[in-house]
Amino acid sequence: GAPVLADIGKIEAGQKVTFEWRGLPVFVVNRTKAQLDTLVTVDARLRDPKSDNTAQQPEYAKNEHRSIKPEWLVVTGICTHLGCVPDFFPELKPEPFDPQWKGGFYCPCHKSRYDMAGRVFDGVPAPANLMVPKYHFVDDTHILIG
Ligand code: FES
Repeated sequence: GAPVLADIGKIEAGQKVTFEWRGLPVFVVNRTKAQLDTLVTVDARLRDPKSDNTAQQPEYAKNEHRSIKPEWLVVTGICTHLGCVPDFFPELKPEPFDPQWKGGFYCPCHKSRYDMAGRVFDGVPAPANLMVPKYHFVDDTHILIG
């Protein structure tokens, strides 16, 4: 499939917009500092906190925020368990969610949870972090996905 040019100029801080690439939803999130600050607090609960599974992101996204620019998260919106589309939770949700989960993505099919970098929590069925597709910045307000 062809790469997709995504206009990210109108995505407000804390917001997610979904683009389509190769028939897949691709989530782009403009993460706030508060959302980025949650990342280190959940490391101990994650299955792959350092993104060591190299199949799940390009080399340039193997870092603490799993992205090229810290604020911009780009992940495929496909749960790594059985492929449902997770919901975006921009902030901590109260019960019945695990209080150690600080928000991110929640899969309604079998309750997998991911953090604000798409990293999967332990104790849920999803085996791997959400996939980061290949992408690059064309300019400050456009990314090319694929
Ligand atoms: Fe997401 Fe099963 S498909 S938890």
